[in-house]
Amino acid sequence: MNDVSSITTASDMPKQFVHTAVLLDETVAMLLNVKKLTELELASVSGVYVDATFGRGGHSRRLLEFLDESARLVVFDKDPEAIEVAQKLAAMDSRVQVVHDSFANVAKDLDKLGIGKIDGLMADLGVSSPQLDDGSRGFSFMKDGAVDMRMDTTRGEPVSAWLARVSADELADVLYQFGEERHSRKIARAIKAMDSYDSTLQLAEVIKQAHPNWQKGKHPATQSFQAMRIFINNELGDVDALLEQSIELLATGGRLAVISFHSLEDRRIKQFLQRHSRGYYDEEQHLPIVPARPKYFAKPKRVAPTQAEIHQNPRARSAWLRGAVRSDEPAVL
Ligand SMILES: C[S@@+](CC[C@H](N)C(=O)[O-])C[C@H]1O[C@@H](n2cnc3c(N)ncnc32)[C@H](O)[C@@H]1O
Repeated sequence: MNDVSSITTASDMPKQFVHTAVLLDETVAMLLNVKKLTELELASVSGVYVDATFGRGGHSRRLLEFLDESARLVVFDKDPEAIEVAQKLAAMDSRVQVVHDSFANVAKDLDKLGIGKIDGLMADLGVSSPQLDDGSRGFSFMKDGAVDMRMDTTRGEPVSAWLARVSADELADVLYQFGEERHSRKIARAIKAMDSYDSTLQLAEVIKQAHPNWQKGKHPATQSFQAMRIFINNELGDVDALLEQSIELLATGGRLAVISFHSLEDRRIKQFLQRHSRGYYDEEQHLPIVPARPKYFAKPKRVAPTQAEIHQNPRARSAWLRGAVRSDEPAVL
C-alpha cells in the first residue's frame, strides 16, 4: 500500500499555513455513497475520482485511505503552492495525478490524461487558509501585502492592475454583484481616488473610511475584498463550468459533492441540482405542454457542519455541502 501518512501533513507546516479541511468525513462519505465512512473498509473502493480543489489535500488524503490500489485520484488546483504539495503527494502515491489548471477545464484536462468517465467529483470552493494567511498573496485585509488576490499567480492580472484601469462604475458593479455590498458606489469612488494599490491594509482602510455602516464583529472591507477576489478569479464562472461538465463526466451512479462558503455559490449549486433532478425546468412550467427533461441527478442532499466542527474551526460556520448521485433517467416524452 502507498504510504500516504509520510507526506507533508499539517504537522509539518508552519502553523499559520495549515488548512483544516471542512466537512471532511461528510464529503468523502458523500463521494463514496455511504452515510458514514465507518461503513467502509480502508483501501476497499475502486474507481476514478477527482478532487477539483486540492488546497493542502485534506479531502484527498482522507479519500485515499478508502481507495484501493487500482483506483485513481486526479487533483486540480489553480494555486502553484497547492500544486507543489500535491506533487509531493503524487511522488509518494502512484494513484494520484496532478493538474495545475482551473477546474473549469476539467473535461479537457481529464481527456488529455485518457480519462473519460469518473466515479466521483468533489470541490471545496473558495480560498484556503494558507492563501488567506500569507499576506503577500493579497487576499487578507488584516495582513499587509500587494493587492494581488490571484489564486493562480502564474497567469492573469492582479487586482491592483485591474483597479488602476477600471472605471468607478464598473468597480461599483463588481462590489455589488459579487460582494452584495450596498454601499458599492461610495466605496468604488473612494478606491478610485487612491494614488496606488500597493497595500492591502491601505486599501482596507480606504474602504473602512468610505463605508457608512460598520457592523459589529465584521470588518467593513469584508464584502468588498470578497467581491474583488471572486471577480479576479472568475470564481462563479468556473463553478458553473465545473457543474455543467459534471453531467457528462460522471458515470451513472457517480457522485458529485461540492462545499461552498457563501450564498452566491450555494444558490448556483442548489439551482443546478434542482434543475437537473426534477425532470422539468422552472422556466418552462408555464408552457401548455411542459417538456420532459432528463433527470441527470438523483437524491440531492445538503449537509451542514456540526456545532462541534464550527466550534473547532470557525471557517466552517458558513459552509454548506451539497451533492447528488448521477442518475440516467431519460426524459419521458
Ligand atoms: C478551500 S481550499 C481547498 C482545501 C482542501 N479541500 C483541503 O482540504 O486542503 C480551495 C482551493 O481551491 C483552489 N481553487 C479555487 N478555485 C479553483 C478553480 N477554479 N480551479 C482550481 N482550483 C481552484 C484554491 O486555489 C484553493 O487551493
